[in-house]
Amino acid sequence: MGVLIVDNYEQGCRIAFERIKQVVTQRERPVLGLATGSSPIGIYNLMVQDYQQGHCSYSHVTTCNLDEYCGIDHHHLQSYHYFMQHYLFRWIDILPKNIYIPTCENILEQECKKYNDLLLQNPIDLQILGIGSNGHIGFNEPGTPFDSTVHYVKLDEKTRMDNSRFFKSLEEVPKYAITMGIANIMQAKSIILLAFGFQKAVAIKGLVDGRQTIELPASVLSSHPDATFIVDKQAACLLLHK
Ligand code: F6R
Repeated sequence: MGVLIVDNYEQGCRIAFERIKQVVTQRERPVLGLATGSSPIGIYNLMVQDYQQGHCSYSHVTTCNLDEYCGIDHHHLQSYHYFMQHYLFRWIDILPKNIYIPTCENILEQECKKYNDLLLQNPIDLQILGIGSNGHIGFNEPGTPFDSTVHYVKLDEKTRMDNSRFFKSLEEVPKYAITMGIANIMQAKSIILLAFGFQKAVAIKGLVDGRQTIELPASVLSSHPDATFIVDKQAACLLLHK
């Protein structure tokens, strides 16, 4: 596990972008695990810019997203289907058939199994993660077993409150979601976790200086063979050794 303390958001996103570009240009059939939320937007902007400058194609790339809300449709401005189109997919040459995002639209048990099978068939080369202020990764909330696979989840109230900044009110924030499980995330060959801002400092302290516990889902990453945490100075402010 490596911790990189960066000066700012831009620098953190650039480092993550360079790693993505390495995987995309060096592998024949790369599979990227992607996240939504504020943390990766800067990475997606750099991917789009780089693509538009003609430097990199995504026509051979497969992507698997971490999660999606249940109870809002894919055209909703806060759905993760919409988010991914808006920030990334519609600007690059990725093939729609190679884009995978879990969905709650059909029978949930079947959806979970389908997405799980898909992840088994498409092992992820590089997984991008954000972290919740409660330590969640994907929507694996505190208490989720480390051996969990794709599942339906009731969102933590802390997560709903944190994410209410994207909605008109707290009431509008969905209560349920579908997410890759912790075991799926741990299967990725490499992982980059991004954390920016003071609101992530307690979770980052637990992740870097604390012990593994299901109460801090991200703590599982300390036993991943190739996980890098990119954190800004605010998110790193409680760490013992900087
Ligand atoms: C998003 C996801 C979440 C976010 C986390 C941090 O697909 O799975 O775990 O990464 O909630 O969100 P931001 O980046 O908005 O602080």
